[in-house]
Amino acid sequence: MTSPAAAPYPDWFFDRDDPTPDDRFYLPARLVTHIDDRAIAAVGELYAELGLDGSATQGRRVLDLMSSWVSHLRTAPAELVVLGMNAAELGANPMATERVVQDLNLDPELPFPDASYDAVLCCVSIDYLVRPVEVLAEAARLLRPGAPVVLTFSNRCFPTKAVHGWLATDEAGRCAIVADYVRRAGGFTEPEVSLRTPAGRLYRGDPLYAVVARRA
Ligand SMILES: C[S@@+](CC[C@H](N)C(=O)[O-])C[C@H]1O[C@@H](n2cnc3c(N)ncnc32)[C@H](O)[C@@H]1O
Repeated sequence: MTSPAAAPYPDWFFDRDDPTPDDRFYLPARLVTHIDDRAIAAVGELYAELGLDGSATQGRRVLDLMSSWVSHLRTAPAELVVLGMNAAELGANPMATERVVQDLNLDPELPFPDASYDAVLCCVSIDYLVRPVEVLAEAARLLRPGAPVVLTFSNRCFPTKAVHGWLATDEAGRCAIVADYVRRAGGFTEPEVSLRTPAGRLYRGDPLYAVVARRA
């Protein structure tokens, strides 16, 4: 694995209120959704636009990092590998073709060969990573040239498990943090940041931001 550039984040940035091992917090299965229906639909729409779901004309092998019982794809890709902390949640994911339980905060190395995926997804979870640049460097390693990494997030989280750097800033700051992680990981095109749920006069729901970059 290529060693990502040391990130110049302050010492406290990756501290968390709850520093206990993540397998304790994620022991109970949470078969819930973490963002509202419009935000979920925005994730599915983005994946469909990128040609990652079952509507793609060719088979796609997709990795959903920090996954649970739902991956928000409109239709299942040919292969969907889901990696997360809770075996029961992953077991309930109806689109998954392979399931991996792994704590990325203890071991950020992904157990897959180089250039073996057509997309890496991570939905509403990057705020929990204490070694995000290493995880994204691994994502770059296992993506095929031109394949996207798609990082989506909102303004909700489990605050005791989110890193302090995330909690210390606002939505614009979080977009900048995620884009910075991608740049520091290396191996990607310049990340594109977008708000997929534009605020409307009547819309008061969860915002859904996306950072997308392609394997260079
Ligand atoms: C807010 S949930 C999001 C689940 C799913 N991605 C979704 O969109 O509904 C956070 C997920 O991150 C995973 N997670 C948290 N810490 C993790 C870690 N250290 N390593 C791997 N996965 C982790 C948990 O298993 C949990 O399913």
